[in-house]
Amino acid sequence: MSLDANRSDLILGLVGSGTMGRGIAQIAVASGVTVILVDALPGAAAKARDAVSAMLAKLAEKGKLTAEACASATARLKLGESLADLAPCHVVVEAIVEDIKVKQALMKDLEAIVSKDCLIASNTSSLSVTSIAAACQHPQRVGGFHFFNPVPLMKVVEVIDGVMTAPWVVETLTALARRMGHTPVKAKDTPGFVVNHAGRGYGTEALKLVGEGVTDFFTADRILKGAAGFRMGPFELLDLTALDVSHPVMESIYDQYYQEPRFRPSPITRSRLVAGLLGRKTGRGFYAYEGDKAVVPP
Ligand code: NAI
Repeated sequence: MSLDANRSDLILGLVGSGTMGRGIAQIAVASGVTVILVDALPGAAAKARDAVSAMLAKLAEKGKLTAEACASATARLKLGESLADLAPCHVVVEAIVEDIKVKQALMKDLEAIVSKDCLIASNTSSLSVTSIAAACQHPQRVGGFHFFNPVPLMKVVEVIDGVMTAPWVVETLTALARRMGHTPVKAKDTPGFVVNHAGRGYGTEALKLVGEGVTDFFTADRILKGAAGFRMGPFELLDLTALDVSHPVMESIYDQYYQEPRFRPSPITRSRLVAGLLGRKTGRGFYAYEGDKAVVPP
């Protein structure tokens, strides 16, 4: 099997049109790929299409995209009503909720719809690609394609092969990442891969500092940016990622490493998740948001 990621008529299905689905859709249509967006939540894919169109228009206004390129990219972004509309896709990338059972159920549903040659990829942050693929009749066609937030700006993509993943899948995802202007990096199928494994140190330890009363979240962010040179503080990053994504990621890495103490999630994120203080997407996380402006809540 092989698939030319650079073919001009490439159709990419995207399941999940939240933060990540939108970003992937934007860079895909901008690189000449046709995208079909599907989301389980009624109206979500249409909202995402409007947001992506607005982002493309903004790039055109700034002169980063010609008016023609903007118009053709926007026209390549299609809406699907249900998974059945993904039947013509050459590649499908899922960016739905970070839950192994839900992702496995999606894999089963997708395989009943797409052609047997369709490549299926997961944007999972932390789950085992091998486990996601295990739900499939053809696990060799499944790979990990892990983008970072915000997708158009974060140029690295982790390409992950599960135990059963065929070499052509890795080759195609690598070429597709390059086509979309990103830098593919091969990572092993281990909990959290490279970035979210290494990132535990940043997030979990910062939460410990706050939990143990060493400092408060705002000071931790300021120090880590000002003195340690990080672009974002750990709490700004948690707000950007959103706790409904990052807390399950923390739990999943901890569990997959057999409750390894150094990865133990913090009760702080658990309780804030339950309280709905998810981050930017709900207008309140560690910071409170007025549009893009972050303020420290009283
Ligand atoms: P999100 O919550 O912004 O969007 C998820 C979307 O998927 C929602 O629109 C939801 O309605 C839809 N959805 C949920 N279950 C579905 C299903 N069964 N079928 C179809 N649509 C469904 O989440 P986000 O942040 O975009 O994350 C998605 C995936 O990307 C997760 O696996 C996450 O771990 C991963 N990821 C997230 C990053 C982040 O910074 N937010 C970074 C890298 C990866």
